[in-house]
Amino acid sequence: MERQGKVLCIGLVCLDIINVVDKYPEEDTDSRCVSQRWQRGGNASNSCTILSLLGAPCAFMGSLAPGPVADFIVGDFGRRGVDVSGVAWQSRGETPCACCVVCPSTGTRTVVLSDTNLPDVTAEDFSKLDLSQYKWIHWEGRNAEDQVKMIQQVREYNSKLEKQKQITVSVEIEKTREPLYQLFPHGDVVFVSKDVAVHFGYQSAASALKGLYSRVKQGAVLICAWAEKGADAIGPDGVLVHSDAFPPEKLVDTLGAGDTFNASVIYTLSRGGTLQEALTFGCQIAGKKCGFHGYDGIVQ
Ligand code: ADP
Ligand code: FRU
Repeated sequence: MERQGKVLCIGLVCLDIINVVDKYPEEDTDSRCVSQRWQRGGNASNSCTILSLLGAPCAFMGSLAPGPVADFIVGDFGRRGVDVSGVAWQSRGETPCACCVVCPSTGTRTVVLSDTNLPDVTAEDFSKLDLSQYKWIHWEGRNAEDQVKMIQQVREYNSKLEKQKQITVSVEIEKTREPLYQLFPHGDVVFVSKDVAVHFGYQSAASALKGLYSRVKQGAVLICAWAEKGADAIGPDGVLVHSDAFPPEKLVDTLGAGDTFNASVIYTLSRGGTLQEALTFGCQIAGKKCGFHGYDGIVQ
């Protein structure tokens, strides 16, 4: 029988102001875009969108500052049925906002994020959650030192429970920031980005996984997505698993492809799927997502 419980994603939520252009603009020019929209963004937030579209009960935890941008964001979470009761409302700072340029003719997405003064979720905020609601908690690497403390709370909680009732912990190490690397040994499932892999000097997902696997804890799964080359993973048996990408007929919008991949992998593994099934499904859904604007099309 499938295990009950929500998937909780902890990390960034922001407003994405997305400009779709037919040609990427030259610096210091003034041009018109093809279309523009507001979209709720942020890795953990986008992963919640995908989980809810796939039909998985999910919750988001991150920081917001009250105001019109947060109203838009909370309204959108509500529309998707994402539980936001764990949001840490901050009395100082601004809700992050990103200017995004999506260019279908090249398949690029260029993001400039303003994320300057809103305090992050703390281990103390996290300690107020009722952990019995969750079967899986995913951390997008941000304030890593505090995130390690949150994960320790989950380990403590798990230590009193039989295996089937324990919460699975996943972490995403996407940005090339030294403090984030302390997260490697804390996930049962660890997503490491191509950017981080390249930063460590690897030129393929397979070589990155072999080189970085010693950093994860015993029995963990390490996963690395590599854009149009698909994704690879290594599990506790040391066997390298691969899925090719599933490119859409036409590349349209790659913004959030990685978040879509992560959510689809978590979705599969949290329902008892194999690592190969999870990678393949992750690439299928992420590839499909690249074929249209936004996220709704993944279920059509
Ligand atoms: P991001 O840059 O958003 O973090 P990644 O480059 O890590 O995303 O890609 C995540 C997954 O999305 C890949 O494993 C792949 O399955 C899919 N993907 C991304 N870009 C493409 C593309 N151009 N064509 C097909 N699939 C893609
Ligand atoms: C996509 C995304 C966007 C956001 C940016 C922040 O992965 O989460 O929604 O603007 O990355 O880095």
